[in-house]
Amino acid sequence: MRYKWIWLCLCFLALSPEILLAQLAPENDRLAARASNLLSYIAVDYGDAVDGGKLLDTGLYQLQQQHAIQALQLVLQLPDRPGRNSLEKGITELGKAIERRESGKTVRRRANELADRLAALYQMQRSPAHTLPAASLAMPLYQERCASCHGGQGEGGVSGPGFLEASRIGNFSLYDLYNTLDPTVDEIHGLDIDGSLTVWQRWALAVTVAAFSVQGQLPPAADIAERYPALVGLPGLAVTRPVELPADAQKALMWWRAHPHLVRALEPPLARADGLLQLALTDYRSGDKAGAYHKLMLAYREGYLPLRSQIEVRDQVLMSQLQSRWQLLRSQVLTGAPNTKVIASFQDLRAMLASAQTRIEPAVDRGYKFFGALLLFIVALVLGLTLWWGLRRKKLSKL
Ligand code: HEC
Repeated sequence: MRYKWIWLCLCFLALSPEILLAQLAPENDRLAARASNLLSYIAVDYGDAVDGGKLLDTGLYQLQQQHAIQALQLVLQLPDRPGRNSLEKGITELGKAIERRESGKTVRRRANELADRLAALYQMQRSPAHTLPAASLAMPLYQERCASCHGGQGEGGVSGPGFLEASRIGNFSLYDLYNTLDPTVDEIHGLDIDGSLTVWQRWALAVTVAAFSVQGQLPPAADIAERYPALVGLPGLAVTRPVELPADAQKALMWWRAHPHLVRALEPPLARADGLLQLALTDYRSGDKAGAYHKLMLAYREGYLPLRSQIEVRDQVLMSQLQSRWQLLRSQVLTGAPNTKVIASFQDLRAMLASAQTRIEPAVDRGYKFFGALLLFIVALVLGLTLWWGLRRKKLSKL
């Protein structure tokens, strides 16, 4: 009996570094998310504090200075890895830019770019894998928990800001909005407001909040989705800040992210596979093997399977290469193969999917072109005949 205890203790000691690491990982996620949250506030609020080198709001300006210092302190608590040094320098530079009272646009760009670098360096998962719900889903929850301060239609009130100003809300990505509702990341709300929200409720509320400023607007033209395919799928839909985009994409993204359930139909399946593979790789690199496996299989089922037979018809060799690449990656993720190998497999698979996409496209294009040309020909023929007929009748009537 006594030996049993000794064995148990030995096993525990052998396991403890693993346990420690497992406990540290969420702590790092939290530190990174908090730093990202502060950088996002600098990006959004600095422009209201300074204009043309002049102070508009001293209190708000000092808050941005503090945010930059705090963000740096948080990053310094994260594990050191190649790239952290330049991130530190970047945040220090941001602090100096605020000190020099540089323009709102410069500071916003810098802060957003640093938040993106931070996310890449620490494998932050900034997007869910599943399609986000309609804005109406979290509306009852919003009315119950948020409306008293932010207004029933997001118009704001004495105790909270409004969400109707598109130029302000467009500064936040959906992820930034989601982050403000996480009590371990942001303390603006009391625990009684957002303390008990689940991850999914926070994402749903982020959509509800993002939807107020585009209420009643018409959906963007379909060709915009073709021009910006990454914005109609995850992670693009969740992590992109509209303000950093060209005007047409900016307006479109504001609408798309307020109607994620409708956007799904615009997303080409292979683009969905690509987005999910990006998310799976981030999970794998951050040590979340189960999450990576789940997203990999989703990418296979929802992105690739619907098009497999089409790819097979166009290029059988590519299809069988793809098939074995999916299998290899699946077993690598299941057995926990080294990161470098798995990263290479992900890259190969994404490249193959990209070439599968081009194999599918040209034929479709050619089809359209052929029908387009045929239609033009028929129209020209009909027009020509009508003209000819008209002229003939004129001539005949003159005679
Ligand atoms: C007791 C009042 C109150 C309640 C209830 C409340 N908020 Fe807030 N909220 C605030 C205040 C105050 C701010 C911060 C203003 C600032 O510091 O800029 C804020 C900020 C925000 C922001 C950041 C937006 C910005 O422009 O800075 C979001 C998003 C938000 N709240 C969403 C919600 C949601 C969703 C709920 C419901 C779960 C909610 N809030 C409930 C008072 C409240």
